[in-house]
Amino acid sequence: MKNCFITGGGSGLGKELALLYSQKGFHIHLASRNMDKLTSAKKEIEASGGQATIYSIDVQKPQAIEELAAAFQKDNQQIDLFINNAGVGIFGPFSSITMEDIETTFAVNVYAPILLTKAFLPLLSSNSTVINIISTAGLRGKKHESLYCASKFALRGFTESLQKEYENDGPRFVAAYMGGMNTPFWDHSDHVKNPAALPHPKQIAERIAQEAEEQLEIIIER
Ligand SMILES: NC(=O)c1ccc[n+]([C@@H]2O[C@H](COP(=O)([O-])OP(=O)(O)OC[C@H]3O[C@@H](n4cnc5c(N)ncnc54)[C@H](OP(=O)(O)O)[C@@H]3O)[C@@H](O)[C@H]2O)c1
Repeated sequence: MKNCFITGGGSGLGKELALLYSQKGFHIHLASRNMDKLTSAKKEIEASGGQATIYSIDVQKPQAIEELAAAFQKDNQQIDLFINNAGVGIFGPFSSITMEDIETTFAVNVYAPILLTKAFLPLLSSNSTVINIISTAGLRGKKHESLYCASKFALRGFTESLQKEYENDGPRFVAAYMGGMNTPFWDHSDHVKNPAALPHPKQIAERIAQEAEEQLEIIIER
């Protein structure tokens, strides 16, 4: 059975990707902090006939990333599809941004996917695919999104560089850029006035899964 590893798979887009890829026959490995959300996602996957394993991890902790990758290596588990999906957004006027906001945003949106990709690289084969969930905030700057855009531009640069570095003999690195989605991402923010009007993440997950088969760059603008 093929293995698919997804960070932040307990909610939103990550959960929809997990449900979809479990239906495509992958064993799903979900990793994030909230075990209640992960347990509920695992139950949903199993209820529809799929298989899932969950891991509690704060991706802001480099040592936790190393330990998780080491556990996979010990079990000799190869990863066929690796999805860097966990992300945070702190929005508002640039003048109100704090050092803590900068550290959290870059730890989760930039350092974590870089460290995870490096730690799991030995478990990827030349046939594996890595999908980095970026955002249209990685394509252009947006008002009151300076920090978020800066982090997603960084993830874009990382992804595009690996596409070139592994062009001939490595895993495929897919960059996915999407606009707003109706997910818990907006639960503690008033940056988006009506998140309910945004597309459901299931729609976006379906586009990603379909387009990632052929393309290294996926842009979903609505
Ligand atoms: N919603 C949008 O409008 C939108 C648009 C474009 C791109 N995106 C991107 O899509 C991705 C998924 O977001 P979403 O919209 O599905 O929102 P979401 O439901 O809030 O998902 C984000 C996930 O990231 C995980 N996460 C956050 N901090 C973490 C940490 N320190 N350690 C481990 N996991 C962590 C969360 O899990 P725990 O809380 O359990 O840790 C959560 O499951 C993000 O990269 C986001 O930037 C979202």
